[in-house]
Amino acid sequence: MAERDSPADTGPNEVERTDREHVFGTWSYQKEVDPTEVVSTEGVRFTTADGDEYIDLSSQLMCSNLGHEAEGVADAVAEQVRETPYVAPGYTTEARAKLGEALAEVTPGDLSKTFFSTSGTEAVEAAIKIARFYTGKRKIVSRYRSYHGATYGSISVTGDPRRLPAEPGIPGTIKAPDPYAYGSSMDPMESVDYIDEMLELEGDTVAAVLVEPIVGSNGILVPPDEYLPRLKEVAHDHGALLVCDEVMSGFGRTGEWFGTDVFGVEPDIMTMAKGLTGAYQPLGATVVTDEIADHFEENMFCHGHTYSGHPVAVAAGLAAVETYREENLIERAAEVGEYLGERIEELGERHPSVGDTRGVGLFRGIELTKHPEKRVPFGEREDKIGEGNTVVDEVAARAADHGTYVANMINTLIVAPPLTITEAEIDEAMAALDAGLEVSDAAMETPE
Ligand SMILES: Cc1ncc(COP(=O)(O)O)c(C=O)c1O
Repeated sequence: MAERDSPADTGPNEVERTDREHVFGTWSYQKEVDPTEVVSTEGVRFTTADGDEYIDLSSQLMCSNLGHEAEGVADAVAEQVRETPYVAPGYTTEARAKLGEALAEVTPGDLSKTFFSTSGTEAVEAAIKIARFYTGKRKIVSRYRSYHGATYGSISVTGDPRRLPAEPGIPGTIKAPDPYAYGSSMDPMESVDYIDEMLELEGDTVAAVLVEPIVGSNGILVPPDEYLPRLKEVAHDHGALLVCDEVMSGFGRTGEWFGTDVFGVEPDIMTMAKGLTGAYQPLGATVVTDEIADHFEENMFCHGHTYSGHPVAVAAGLAAVETYREENLIERAAEVGEYLGERIEELGERHPSVGDTRGVGLFRGIELTKHPEKRVPFGEREDKIGEGNTVVDEVAARAADHGTYVANMINTLIVAPPLTITEAEIDEAMAALDAGLEVSDAAMETPE
């Protein structure tokens, strides 16, 4: 697709100006916030008020897994909101019961009972409390390159620099190194040994080890196959639970139902949101094993929200799970994901500023570098909470000028399109990334 004027070139319209004046932009210096009005969506595309159409190569915020016109989910939402828009959590609805049952079916192992909330953040908050209540211990070990949510508990277990302005967080959160072969001095399997030693040295005080099975917003970090099974062993050896945060990696993203399925691991607690409804409604879920569920028969489940199991949200969740199943979208993601992986590797071969390409299924990252031998990044961790644009932002902006929206986090382009994307649409998007990566190629350090 040929380059066109970016929306910024035509200036903000009235909606954009009003929004900018009265609504906070998230995670931003407000002077830099510049929202673009979206007026319609179709398939894997969206159109702005200027009439510019984009391929959505990141499922908005890695959540529109079903694309933007899943009729079954839209109908379920409309029907539910007309029939029974809301009942208190002490009542139930057919969709809530059936979605709880469906999640027990699609999640691995003995995961069988769900607490519903309205976001990934809340799903993680619930997981932290459940792990503490169940084990009677306080500490949570999580990793530096992670994002688990925005509220005080979930930002405290987050390792991403966005945690720093909120510190000190809740007590009892400890950070561990990550399996990041490209960017860390520690070998991924050594990092599990490190966690083993941490748990040993903490004594019997750790309730849970909390990880994203494949790290999402901190750069699509895929651990070696033996990493997650070993981590579960290490956690259990020390009397800690393994909590897997599947908020981004769940619901077909990896070509499996969940990221943990890629490694054949059954966590003790799993958190999910985003793809759970394909973003048609805000819904989070925290799913626990039979054994943990049983504990709360005789011990109070001291947690809840007004909108826990909100009828419209769970109706969307149920319809979304049915859509993944009926349209074989998980298998489809694995197949199309292979193609996406090949096309990304080709980009890597063509562009010297691509330092690393990694991922599984439709969950892929392109990490950039100024200097391939020294692996010098264009975007640093602290840029995440700094002002101004990085070269990685400029790469994404150039791709947008060529008709493709791609999210970028720190130093990595996050390629995570809807599971419905076709090979032809992938080709179109890759042409836009090809143009975008010329920006980073041109900004590389000249060899000494
Ligand atoms: C792994 C992970 N956990 C938790 C969250 C928080 O979810 P939410 O933004 O829905 O609160 C996110 C959001 O990106 C995430 O990627």
